[in-house]
Amino acid sequence: MGYKAYRTGVLLQRPVETVDRIRSRLERRLDAVLAVDFAPCQGIHERLHDLLDAPATCDVCSGFDDVWRSVTARLPDSCGHDAGVGIARTAWTVVRHLRPQRVVETGVARGVTTTVLLEAMEHNGYGELWSIDLPDLRLAWRGGVSVAVPPELRTRWTYVRGSSRRFLPAVLAELGQIQLFLHDGLHTHGNMLFEFGVAWRHLAPGGLLLSDDIDSNGAFGHFGNWTGSPLLICPEETKSGAYGLIRKPIVAPAAGRA
Ligand SMILES: C[S@@+](CC[C@H](N)C(=O)[O-])C[C@H]1O[C@@H](n2cnc3c(N)ncnc32)[C@H](O)[C@@H]1O
Ligand SMILES: [Zn+2]
Repeated sequence: MGYKAYRTGVLLQRPVETVDRIRSRLERRLDAVLAVDFAPCQGIHERLHDLLDAPATCDVCSGFDDVWRSVTARLPDSCGHDAGVGIARTAWTVVRHLRPQRVVETGVARGVTTTVLLEAMEHNGYGELWSIDLPDLRLAWRGGVSVAVPPELRTRWTYVRGSSRRFLPAVLAELGQIQLFLHDGLHTHGNMLFEFGVAWRHLAPGGLLLSDDIDSNGAFGHFGNWTGSPLLICPEETKSGAYGLIRKPIVAPAAGRA
């Protein structure tokens, strides 16, 4: 089937998704002027370990390079959606150190961050991941959604198809508390603030919010300021852009921010 016929079929068969796709498109257009510059920090490895209350010289988070090699080997061509090596390494480090029981992410595409999170959980022998994704239709047409995720890692994984606005609150309500939230879906100011707000309420004390593409707009900075919590801003390594982390304090700093 040609792409146009496939797209028309999906748009007609999934009217709720179609409304969400139109909404996303409008939001993206309105956001086109909101890109911001951040001053990224240096010495990510040390600062990340500091944020995680872990010594920088550690063996806990070694092993990422092998995982990255196997992920990239399953993706021989490039795709504009794929997460960069910087956020992937950070996701690996966070999961190896925090040993989260429940992780939620938005935005799967071919499944780079999904695979790294699941691999880290496999190394921990612990944890489950829920991923909410409104699939890119061209990628879906080519059969490329989540191709990086090997079958043996999928036992810890729940894929939720649809927009985060529609599904994130329900997934989080069902899970109760999570230890890590990773945003990598629709990078508009409104959607990022929405996701950060809902996820933060469900984040356990000491849990982490990790977001890709924080230079798309000011949402990450605004949210970080509002929480008043320690945060890190990191430049991507092999492509442009930046990602960021905010750690929820173990003792809530002020009323109304828990
Ligand atoms: C940047 S890609 C994700 C990259 C992926 N995390 C990786 O590691 O390669 C963004 C993904 O979010 C999906 N998406 C777009 N709008 C969305 C929405 N409103 N809710 C959830 N996912 C969305 C896109 O179809 C795409 O699959
Ligand atoms: Zn470490």
